[in-house]
Amino acid sequence: MNNITIKSPLDMHLHLRDKEMLKIVAPLSAKSFSAGIIMPNLVPPITTIEDIKNYKQRIIDSIKNEKFEPLMTLFFKNNYTYKFLEEVKEYISAIKLYPSGVTTNSHEGVSNMNIEELRETFEAMSELGIPLCVHGETDGFVMDREAEFVPIYEQFAKNFPNLKIIMEHITTKNSVNLLNCYDNLYATITVQHLFITLDDIAGGMLKPHLFCKPIAKRYEDREALLSVALSGHHKVMFGSDSAPHPTDKKECFGCAAGVFTAPIALMALTSLFDSNNALENLQAFVSDNAQKIYSYKPLDKRIELTKKPFVVPLNYANIVPMFAGEELPWSIVTK
Ligand code: NCD
Ligand code: ZN
Repeated sequence: MNNITIKSPLDMHLHLRDKEMLKIVAPLSAKSFSAGIIMPNLVPPITTIEDIKNYKQRIIDSIKNEKFEPLMTLFFKNNYTYKFLEEVKEYISAIKLYPSGVTTNSHEGVSNMNIEELRETFEAMSELGIPLCVHGETDGFVMDREAEFVPIYEQFAKNFPNLKIIMEHITTKNSVNLLNCYDNLYATITVQHLFITLDDIAGGMLKPHLFCKPIAKRYEDREALLSVALSGHHKVMFGSDSAPHPTDKKECFGCAAGVFTAPIALMALTSLFDSNNALENLQAFVSDNAQKIYSYKPLDKRIELTKKPFVVPLNYANIVPMFAGEELPWSIVTK
């Protein structure tokens, strides 16, 4: 096959930032995707209806005439009242929980993962049908953080069977296995975790632009992620976790975590599914599964890709994308 048309591609985990950065990156997502789940980890985080409405408007203003729907999220706080959650529900697609301090702009997150502490909020979310997106990492040894979070996911899943829980950007074989153990657990997978392992980041010369949280793991982990994504497994959806940082925050002492993939994600995924003879499952992975999991009907938008090389730009303004300067076998047909 030399051409493929994807119906309403969705990016179910996306950082668009704010101000000048937002103006640079939002149009790039809007070019490839029909909608995106917008992460709330601004400084300060998105915690009120006013914040959501204003941020959504700033996103819409930045994408100008492209057809792209920002699906907003709220930053999880354990002190939201039922009344507030009932009110905020119509403005959001999910609530994002960050353990405090585990990643960029997460210090206002939850410091105690005790389910009794969280019960009231999780019960309210279950009742109101608000999905919970989770950054599942502890503060343990960097390669074990996600695996150490598994018992916490299990407690969440068992105790709140009516809560839809999305394990964001999974990176391990363990997390893939967990998907089949609980009906209410789902997952997003990024582009970078399907392509790289820790070797690509730190095995040779250090590659700061591939450094993100959770860090890419072992070969067997990547294999597990690849096989579940390529199979079009109904509980797995694409979430880029595209997380732009300016070059001076990446190429410096104390590199910020985050890989910028928004402009290349769809081309990279198509290339990957094609080289693995799995193009027939791409539509499920980049759109259909997410529509079912989130009960979401996207705008009708078709993106055509063709098997012609795309040379990834070295930078988009002051941001370096994944695969900068490399060639991807598939490109988007621009009309
Ligand atoms: C994200 C960011 O920069 O906002 N960074 C990352 O490494 N993925 C935050 C996150 O999703 O962890
Ligand atoms: Zn993220």
